[in-house]
Amino acid sequence: MADRRKLVVGNWKMNGMKAQLGEVEAIGTLAAAHPGVDVGLCLPATLIAAADAGKGGAFVGAQDCHMKDSGAHTGCLSAAMLAEAGATWTIVGHSERRQDQGESDADIAAKALAARAAGLKVILCVGESLDVRDAGDAEAVVSAQLLASLPDGAAGDWLAIAYEPIWAIGTGRIPTMDAVDAMHRALRDALAGRIGDAAQAVRILYGGSMNGDNAAELLAIADVDGGLVGGASLTAAKFAPIVQAAA
Ligand code: 13P
Repeated sequence: MADRRKLVVGNWKMNGMKAQLGEVEAIGTLAAAHPGVDVGLCLPATLIAAADAGKGGAFVGAQDCHMKDSGAHTGCLSAAMLAEAGATWTIVGHSERRQDQGESDADIAAKALAARAAGLKVILCVGESLDVRDAGDAEAVVSAQLLASLPDGAAGDWLAIAYEPIWAIGTGRIPTMDAVDAMHRALRDALAGRIGDAAQAVRILYGGSMNGDNAAELLAIADVDGGLVGGASLTAAKFAPIVQAAA
C-alpha cells in the first residue's frame, strides 16, 4: 500500500467569529503535537488572515473559491485572494454548495484548477444522497461524480478527495465500515482508471458525522486517508480525539 500521510481537516462551514480564534490556536497546538498528521481548518474567509497568525502546526484553508481570477462577480473570492489572506488549501464541491449554489461538476473541476493555479491545494468533495444509497447505486454514482469533477493534472501532491455521503453530514449517522471500505476502494479504482498509478498517492478522506467515537474505526480502513470533519472540528476538545486517532 502506498505510504499516505493522514490528513485531518476541519470544515467550519458558516461558523466562527473572532471569539473562536482561541479554538484555532488550540487546534494549532494540537496539530504541532502530532507532526505525523497533516491537520488543517477550512474557515470562513473572514477569519483566514487572523487565523493564519495563530495557526501553530495546522494549516488554514478556505471552503470554496471562484473559478475566475478576477472580475465582475459580486460577493465572490478568487483563489489568489484566499491565498494572499493565508489559505494554503481550499475545499471545492462540497455537497452544501452543490445543493445551495447549484454548482455543477464542471464548475467544480474549474474551481480546482483555479485553486491550483493560485498555489492552493484542494479537497474535492463527492458523495451520494440517501435515495442513491438505498437504491444500491452509491459506488457507481459517486465514482462517476468524481470523474466528472476531477480536474486535469490530478495528483496527490495538490489534490485530495473527500467522500461525504450527504445523508451522513450533520446527522450522526454514518455508513457501515464495509460500505466506507467499498466506496473508498471504488473511488481509488476510478482514479486509477483516469490517472494510473498516481492514484495511489491521492488521499481519500471520509466525511460525515466523524467524531471522537468513530474516528479510529474509520481511519483504520485501508483506503481511508483522513477525515473532513464538520461539527466535531469546532472545538479543540472535540477535534483532539480525531487527530489522535489519525496519529
Ligand atoms: P459533520 O462532521 O458535521 O457531519 O460535517 C461533515 C462535513 O460536511 C464536512 O465537510
